[in-house]
Amino acid sequence: MKVGIIGTGLQANRRLPSIEQHISCKVDAITGLVSEEAKNISKIYGARYIMNWERLVTDDKLNIIVICTPPYVHFDIAKTALEAGKHVLCEKPLTMNSADAQKLVTIANKNNVLLKCGFNHRHHPAIQKAYQLVSNGAIGKPITGRSLYGICGRQGCEQEWRSNPNYAAGGQFMEQGIHVIDLFRWFVGEFDSVSADIATHVFPIEPLEDTATALLHRRDGVTVTIHSSITQWRNRFRFELYGTQGYVEITGLGGSYDLQQLRFGKRNPDVPFSEEIIDYRGSDKSWVSEWNHFMDAILHHAPMIGTGTDGVAASHIVESAYLSAKESRRVLLEELKL
Ligand SMILES: NC(=O)c1ccc[n+]([C@@H]2O[C@H](COP(=O)([O-])OP(=O)(O)OC[C@H]3O[C@@H](n4cnc5c(N)ncnc54)[C@H](O)[C@@H]3O)[C@@H](O)[C@H]2O)c1
Repeated sequence: MKVGIIGTGLQANRRLPSIEQHISCKVDAITGLVSEEAKNISKIYGARYIMNWERLVTDDKLNIIVICTPPYVHFDIAKTALEAGKHVLCEKPLTMNSADAQKLVTIANKNNVLLKCGFNHRHHPAIQKAYQLVSNGAIGKPITGRSLYGICGRQGCEQEWRSNPNYAAGGQFMEQGIHVIDLFRWFVGEFDSVSADIATHVFPIEPLEDTATALLHRRDGVTVTIHSSITQWRNRFRFELYGTQGYVEITGLGGSYDLQQLRFGKRNPDVPFSEEIIDYRGSDKSWVSEWNHFMDAILHHAPMIGTGTDGVAASHIVESAYLSAKESRRVLLEELKL
């Protein structure tokens, strides 16, 4: 399979090696806004440099397009690629709004190609193991969840595209919080309402937020809370799910988020507390695992997780959270039409 990639920044450089490690894949074409950078990276990977995304996505030789640009251009690129019959992996958030993301899902279905949203967190080994435990009933019925996901905002981050509402689909909740929204949806199913508060405490990035706190609620009583911030002053990831019979807790993602660790414990009031702890040492495996999963879906029609539809749903929850914060009330997800 020949792969074309758009963007030469952080995400492209994470994804390029994971594409190349797959026995059936070759990065064949690269483009980005900074042509010198794109030319240099193309040389490293023995790929063709193509002068703009419009030419790249319609190139007959390519089978798969990977979109690693800021969100403002995701829709145009993905739409053109899907209409040209290419499979697409697009970084989160899929588009600037969930209605556009839904259009991409429709276009992908119509053209019989796959659209994957870059929710790589589903592919971290601790998350995969926790998902296996939860879906096998090891913690009973999930009841409550709690998550925090944040970073120490970079000096000068207000100059980046992430701080500009013309380029970014939202603030910190859309940019990073969306990953844990996606995880909670995956683990416990669809939510019905959201209450949220957002604030811009430190970085001059208004109208975007540097901090968000949200409570997602299901009609069956399951609630989860999410705190996501760039004012955390230390990178941290924590994802916890408690069920009627036990719990799973994941801390860390490797790298600057510290060792990835899974804790699994059972409800048993009659014995001393004990839990199983697994340390996932080593580098971040999620990129390779996500790519291999995508390839299994393309080559062998294996069921895919982190689909375009998941991308739509997660963006829709963030948008509902923003409405909740704006109007200081709980928002039913059905209020915002796609
Ligand atoms: N999954 C994750 O953990 C994760 C982490 C960071 C970023 N992201 C997402 O990845 C995407 C890219 O983020 P990044 O951190 O790599 O950004 P970045 O600024 O490092 O890189 C963006 C790249 O896009 C290119 N670009 C911008 N506009 C373009 C255009 N019109 N045509 C062609 N190329 C264009 C730029 O030249 C640059 O190479 C965003 O959607 C972001 O939300 C995901």
